[in-house]
Amino acid sequence: MSMSNSIPEKTPPHGGDVYHLARTLGLELRELLDFSANINPLGFPPGIPEAIREALPEIVHYPDRRCLELTRDLAAYHGLSPGEILVGNGSTELIYLAARALKPKKAVIVAPAFSEYEHALQAAGVPVDFQITAESQNFTLDAPLDPKGADLVFLAQPASPSGALLAPDLLLEAAARLDDAGVFLLLDEAFVDFVEEASLKTSLAHFPHLLILRSFTKFFAIPGMRLGCLLAAPEVIRRLAAVQEPWSVNTLAQAMGRACLKDVDYMARSRELVREEREYLFQGLAALPGLQPFPSTVNYLLVKLNRPEFTAHSLQRALLAQKVVIRDASNFRGLDARFFRVAVRSRGENRRLLEAMGHVLR
Ligand SMILES: Cc1ncc(COP(=O)(O)O)c(C=O)c1O
Repeated sequence: MSMSNSIPEKTPPHGGDVYHLARTLGLELRELLDFSANINPLGFPPGIPEAIREALPEIVHYPDRRCLELTRDLAAYHGLSPGEILVGNGSTELIYLAARALKPKKAVIVAPAFSEYEHALQAAGVPVDFQITAESQNFTLDAPLDPKGADLVFLAQPASPSGALLAPDLLLEAAARLDDAGVFLLLDEAFVDFVEEASLKTSLAHFPHLLILRSFTKFFAIPGMRLGCLLAAPEVIRRLAAVQEPWSVNTLAQAMGRACLKDVDYMARSRELVREEREYLFQGLAALPGLQPFPSTVNYLLVKLNRPEFTAHSLQRALLAQKVVIRDASNFRGLDARFFRVAVRSRGENRRLLEAMGHVLR
C-alpha cells in the first residue's frame, strides 16, 4: 500500500495524534514533522534529565498525593498561597474535574475552543451553550460575555485556536461581571506563559468564582508527562480536590514540574525564540498565495485558506504525503473547512513547512 493510500480520511479531534498517524502511514514517529501540536520549539528545560535521575529511586513509593513541594513552588512562582493551587495530570484532568465538582446546571463555552471543555461537560451531564466569536475580532470576545443563564463559563486567554489576546480591560470586566452574578469562570491560560504579563492570576483574590487553568505541556514541552494546575480561591480548590482521584500526578511529573519552575533563563529564551519564529512563519505564510494568518501572541498560528480548490483537509493530506502534519481546524465549532492551524517551530522546521506548503499551493 502506498503512503498516500493510507493517509487518514477523517480529521482527528486533536492535534498531536502522531503515534496513530505514524502507525497508519507505516512511518517511524521521528519521520513526521508535527506542526499539529503546539509545543515549545526549544524542547524541555535542560535540568529535566537530572531531576528525573534524582527522583527515580522514589518511584517505589506512591507519589505524594498532595504534591506538596510542587504546590509550594507553584505558589512562590505565581505569587499565591499553596491553598490556591491544585496540581493535576495535565490541565485536561482539571477541566473534567471542574465539570464534575462544580456540578453546574448549565455551561457556556466561548468558541471556537478546545474540544475537551464540551466533552467534559457532556460526560458530567451538563447542558452546553456557546458564544461564538467573530473572525473580525481574531476570534476573541467581540461582545459582552453572556452567561445565558449558565453557572459556569469557559473562556481561553490567549484564545485558542487563534492565539489572539483579549484586551485586559475587557477580560477584567467580564470576570468581574460573572463573579458578581455568582457565575464560575474557567479561564484557560494553557498558553499564557508566552505572554505571562497577560495572566489574570494577579487578580485572583478579587474573584472567588474565577478558576485559572495552567499547563506545563505547551511552554515546558512535556506533553508526554501530563502536568497542569488550577489557580482558584481555597474554597474552590477544596471542592475540586475532594473529588480528584488519588495519585493522578506521578512522582516524576512532580519532580519535573519543580525543575521547570527554576529555569528562568530557559523561560526568557523560549519567549524570545517564539516571538522571532512566529514573525518569520507569519510573514512566510502571508506571502503564500491565498493564505491569511491571524495575529497571534503564542506558539501557534491560525490560518485561513482563501483558495476554493483547496480545503484545510485536502491541504493537510497533501502535506502528509511530505510527512508534514498540520492541524485541520475545520472541526472547531465556529470555524469551517478553510481553517487550519500550525505550531511555531524552529527556523529550519518552519522553513520546511513553508517549502512544503509552497510546493502544494503553487
Ligand atoms: C487551549 C488548551 N487548553 C488546555 C489543553 C490541555 O493541555 P494539557 O492537558 O496537556 O495540559 C490544550 C491542549 O491541547 C489546549 O489546547
